[in-house]
Amino acid sequence: KRVILIGPPGCGKGTQSPIMKEEYCLCHLATGDMLRAAVAAKTPLGIKAKEAMDKGELVSDELVVGIIDEAIKKPSCEKGFILDGFPRTVVQAKKLDAMLEKQGVKVDKVLNFEIADSVLEERITGRWIHPASGRSYHTKFAPPKVPGIDDVTGEVLVQRKDDNANVLRSRLAAFHKQTKPVIDHYKQKGVVNTLHAEKSAKAVTEEIKEALG
Ligand code: AP5
Ligand code: ZN
Repeated sequence: KRVILIGPPGCGKGTQSPIMKEEYCLCHLATGDMLRAAVAAKTPLGIKAKEAMDKGELVSDELVVGIIDEAIKKPSCEKGFILDGFPRTVVQAKKLDAMLEKQGVKVDKVLNFEIADSVLEERITGRWIHPASGRSYHTKFAPPKVPGIDDVTGEVLVQRKDDNANVLRSRLAAFHKQTKPVIDHYKQKGVVNTLHAEKSAKAVTEEIKEALG
C-alpha cells in the first residue's frame, strides 16, 4: 500500500504512523523528521531548511521533492510506504504522482486528518519527542512512564523548536493556504478518506484500519 497522511500540525500523523507501519509492514517517510535530522547534523540540506522551519514556513518544494525521490526508490519502500507530511503543496503532489507513474504504481489512499484548529495548540505545546526515533509523547494525552524520559531507550525527551503558540500560527496558515489544495487534488482521483482526528488516538487508529481494510 502507498498511503499519504495529510493534516494540520498536531493532528496525529506522527502518532498513527508507527502503528500503521507495524500493522501493514510499510516504510514510514516523514519529511519533518528527515529535515529535523538534517538540521541537527548541520548538513547542507539542514542549513538550507532551518530558517523556514524555525519560522513555521514550508521548506522549498525542490528540497523536499529531492529527499522523497531518493527515499521511495529504496528497496525497503518497494512494498509500500506511509508519507507523513508530504506532499504539502500541489507542486509536490504532482511531482510525486510523476515519480510513482515512472515506477508503474500510484497512491492507494490519502488519509485526511480532519480537526478544528482550536484543539491543536494544546496538542502542540504539550508534545515531547525522542529525537533519535521520532517517538512523541504528550504531557496530558500520552505521558511517558517517567516524565521527560523515552519509554524505550531511557534517553531524554525534548520539545521541538517550532512547538510554541506563535510558530504554530504560521504553520497553520501554511497548512490552510498551501496544503489544503492537495486534499482536493487527491479528491479528484477518488482516493481520499476523511478521519475524525479529534477523537482519541485509539479511535483514530480504528478509523484508519477501516479505511485501509
Ligand atoms: P512536520 O514535522 O511534518 O510537522 P507538522 O506537519 O506541523 O506536524 P506535526 O509533526 O506537528 O504533527 P503530527 O500530526 O505528527 O502530530 P503528532 O502525532 O506528533 O513539519 C515540520 C516542518 O518541516 C514544517 O513546518 C516545514 O517547515 C518542514 N516540512 C516538512 N515537510 C515538508 C514538506 N513536504 N514541504 C515543505 N516543508 C516541509 O501529535 C501531536 C501531539 O498530540 C503529540 O504529543 C501526541 O501525543 C498528541 N496526540 C496525537 N493524537 C492524539 C489524539 N487523538 N488525542 C490526543 N492527543 C493526541
Ligand atoms: Zn509529525
